[in-house]
Amino acid sequence: MFTRIAGRYDLMNSLMTGGRHHAWRRAAAREIVTAPPGLVLDLATGTADLALAVRRRDPARTVVGADFAEAMVVEARRKLASRGERRIPLLAADALALPFPDATFACVASAFLLRNLEDLARGLAEMRRVTKPGGHVVALDITSPAIPGWDTVFKLYFHRVVPAVGALVAGDRQAYTYLPQSVARFVSPDELRRLMERVGWSAVRYRRLGLGTIALHVGVA
Ligand SMILES: C[S@@+](CC[C@H](N)C(=O)[O-])C[C@H]1O[C@@H](n2cnc3c(N)ncnc32)[C@H](O)[C@@H]1O
Repeated sequence: MFTRIAGRYDLMNSLMTGGRHHAWRRAAAREIVTAPPGLVLDLATGTADLALAVRRRDPARTVVGADFAEAMVVEARRKLASRGERRIPLLAADALALPFPDATFACVASAFLLRNLEDLARGLAEMRRVTKPGGHVVALDITSPAIPGWDTVFKLYFHRVVPAVGALVAGDRQAYTYLPQSVARFVSPDELRRLMERVGWSAVRYRRLGLGTIALHVGVA
């Protein structure tokens, strides 16, 4: 599915969020750069927007971008080349079986990955495994806002308007029907915090952004 929509992915993000998605990645990047010095992994990098936000915030960092959809990596590579960005190596990797030794990264970050994982606990445990002791995890994802009334408006927009825009702009109603469904069946921010703690992350906290529609989780290995 991500291979199918790769070419229109950035445009759809900007249309769906009114351009706000960059501000959410910037907020994640501000957390990421507080990790100890060392490599950052942008897991499920997609078109590399989070990796770029981290490099803008801390030009001394090297950020490894990994994704299992080749077409996304192709889009990322094109974007990085057009910006002359040389310190974001990209590679193919499955978040459920990461091709890295234990304790490789100072920070493992992801944006809009977790709700797509077939086995969330395993993905979180893999992220923990490849993080150095004292390293950080930073995870950004969409969540249902817990505000009565606004929650209803958000669901209406997400389940009705977004699939129609996806059909029109990306030519893929199915992918943009999956999107709100994946959010609806995803764990709540509190459940995610508890699960992160269960697989070995400590001091896990989160805050909401985007009028409560985005959760930003942070933890320490
Ligand atoms: C919604 S996109 C997010 C892309 C990017 N992080 C961003 O901020 O826009 C989800 C990405 O997760 C990738 N993905 C999903 N499951 C994955 C897995 N098991 N391993 C690696 N990448 C995965 C998809 O290929 C896709 O690029």
